[in-house]
Amino acid sequence: MSGLTIDLTDQVALVTGGGAGIGQGCAIALARCGADVVLAEIDPERAAQTVALVAAQGRRAVFAATDVMDTDQVRAAVVAADREFGRLDILVNNAGGVAGKRFLDQSERSWRRHIDINLVSMLAATHAALPLMIRGGRGGSVVNVASIEAARAAPMYAVYAACKAAMVNFTKTLALEVSEHGIRVNCIAPDLTATPGLHGMTGPVPASGLPQRSTEIQQGIARYIPLGREGVIDECGEVVAFLCSPLSSYVTGVTIPVDGGTASAGGWVRSADSGGWDFGVGELSP
Ligand SMILES: NC(=O)c1ccc[n+]([C@@H]2O[C@H](COP(=O)([O-])OP(=O)(O)OC[C@H]3O[C@@H](n4cnc5c(N)ncnc54)[C@H](O)[C@@H]3O)[C@@H](O)[C@H]2O)c1
Repeated sequence: MSGLTIDLTDQVALVTGGGAGIGQGCAIALARCGADVVLAEIDPERAAQTVALVAAQGRRAVFAATDVMDTDQVRAAVVAADREFGRLDILVNNAGGVAGKRFLDQSERSWRRHIDINLVSMLAATHAALPLMIRGGRGGSVVNVASIEAARAAPMYAVYAACKAAMVNFTKTLALEVSEHGIRVNCIAPDLTATPGLHGMTGPVPASGLPQRSTEIQQGIARYIPLGREGVIDECGEVVAFLCSPLSSYVTGVTIPVDGGTASAGGWVRSADSGGWDFGVGELSP
């Protein structure tokens, strides 16, 4: 009996924001499966870190200096993929950003920045990448990195959550529009995933890794996330690799939660006292 493997040998992937965090996890997972990678990333030092990690998998990564807020730069990154590799099979729309603020306190400039980085960047990259995939005639995969916030209320993050919800719906429609080309379009919806962004870090990620969470925070996370811990970037990358592979050849237009079960929990939390499940208000029945 032979096992199932994900083989993306000689495919080319473009990952936005691939220098760190979930984008890095995607770049490494795709490289582990045999793909070469273009990193459309704003931070050259972070990109260099991912280039080295991809090289350690025996694949090539190319840095395309890109601010995804600038659609011309996004288009130029796709052109760079074509120039370097002559093909494009996979697009991972990962770069995004958020600043927490009540909607009434948020400026119009801030709404527009959220929409540009989370939504317009995805539209620009997808619009530029699809003709290259279609030209290749081998199909392809687009994976959008949404969020658990796409499907629930997100106080302090209203515009971000609206953008992520839009990504999910865009994924469905686009899946239909490009199905005739054998191109599949899917989404992942992570919840808490340990990344530099989640820790408010900028610049290259230190060799020591991300800071440790306090015991109190870890206990809170263990109550709220059914699997009892934060996710790690590889866990997003591996689902993305699956979605780009022949193993998911009949899967398109869907959003896969990568959230340790939080979306399914729908408000249930683990009781601090009994370890059972409640709504955070203790036992409701006598
Ligand atoms: N980490 C989480 O818990 C979590 C949960 C749900 C969804 N997400 C989503 O995952 C995606 C990645 O988040 P993350 O936590 O890995 O972020 P991160 O900040 O850790 O990493 C983001 C990467 O994108 C790069 N980047 C930032 N702005 C850019 C720009 N304008 N142009 C190009 N590159 C840029 C950064 O330099 C960095 O390398 C985002 O879309 C985010 O909304 C994250």
